[in-house]
Amino acid sequence: MTQLFDKTWINSIELGNRAIRSATWTGSCDAQGFVTDVTIDFYNRLAQGGMGLIITGYQYILPNSIQLPYMLGNYDDSQIQGLKKLADIVHTAGTKIVGQIVHTGLRANPKLFTQEGAIWAPSEVSDPTVKHQVKVVAKSEILDLVQAYANAARRLKEAGFDGVQLHGAHGYGINQFLSPYWNKRGDNYGGSLANRYRFLAETLEAVREATGTDMAVMIKLNSCDFVENGLDLDETLQIATRLADDGIDAIEISGGSASSGKNKGPVRTKILEEQDEAYFSDMAAQFKEKVKVPIIAVGGFRSLKKIDEVLDGNKADYIAMSRPFIREPSLIKRWLDEDLSKATCISCNGCFETGLKGLGISCKMDREEKGDNGSN
Ligand SMILES: Cc1cc2nc3c(=O)[nH]c(=O)nc-3n(C[C@H](O)[C@H](O)[C@H](O)COP(=O)(O)O)c2cc1C
Ligand code: SF4
Repeated sequence: MTQLFDKTWINSIELGNRAIRSATWTGSCDAQGFVTDVTIDFYNRLAQGGMGLIITGYQYILPNSIQLPYMLGNYDDSQIQGLKKLADIVHTAGTKIVGQIVHTGLRANPKLFTQEGAIWAPSEVSDPTVKHQVKVVAKSEILDLVQAYANAARRLKEAGFDGVQLHGAHGYGINQFLSPYWNKRGDNYGGSLANRYRFLAETLEAVREATGTDMAVMIKLNSCDFVENGLDLDETLQIATRLADDGIDAIEISGGSASSGKNKGPVRTKILEEQDEAYFSDMAAQFKEKVKVPIIAVGGFRSLKKIDEVLDGNKADYIAMSRPFIREPSLIKRWLDEDLSKATCISCNGCFETGLKGLGISCKMDREEKGDNGSN
């Protein structure tokens, strides 16, 4: 337990330790994406738990980018007030907060659209997980998209957030432009890696202009798409190197998407033994070795032993967790209090159930222990 409790900096954010809450949709906002009291309570509990940084659940930056119900919205200035409440509650607890922003592209869910809109995609592709007709984005719409990312970043700045994380992983918009699996464009946004990177480069530049130099601008990236003809480690390392050159402040390494094979996505189940833990950490180690910005490893961290192995082994600078903090928001405090047993989360993914009903995500194991079926 040596490095986990070090104080460090990412750009101008001082982090009390190297434990990060990875972005986690909470299923607690209203149908237009506005923050509710349930959302505030959720983040308040989390922020008391001792992690160095909280990355919010993915925030949709245009109305045609909503994917899961009761997702957090960041597409209109009227949402700044709720975002500010989130930032304030987290800061009051002495923790830092970064907002994850996303356009979900071809993964948007039109049934949840609250206004007319098409599903935007870099290209038409035969992906069995895509059930709706998509609209291939024209150049003018790409410029609108870039501007939407910049506007969302500007709202986070106005709301007092410490940073922004671009969601560049899990088969969403940025990942769709980067990956030859989803990007079949014949113009200068498709084809070569330099062309597929162009959308992200333009987005990063616009976001940095909106945030200024002091706010941290981070990205979550796939190490590998785990689909045929998708991004592999060789290409994602090249992308990360370009991002470092272009001024990114930290890169979180994840992998896969809904299109990857069974249990090859980012939120894997059956992490019961030590050898199942930290399933992207060997990939993260490659980034740590070759890319000169802080690297955050995510995916299946459950025990301090594994966390120490990754940090002490120089495989990553930070570790991020999602599900362990749903079951135990105070896990880091517990470890600091010398109760060093591993996280009690069993990685069953039952936490989505109550979020899909708009009640906010909650641990299924806890609900079962309390005899609560999550239906109220
Ligand atoms: C309920 C839930 C919601 C999630 N929402 C997001 C999200 O909004 N953005 C994101 O990048 N990843 C999201 N993830 C993935 C996590 O950030 C993380 O990458 C993944 O769960 C693996 O980490 P873990 O084993 O610590 O849970 C979500 C995961 C869960 C379980
Ligand atoms: S329901 Fe509970 S135990 Fe299952 S993955 Fe979610 S937090 Fe972990």
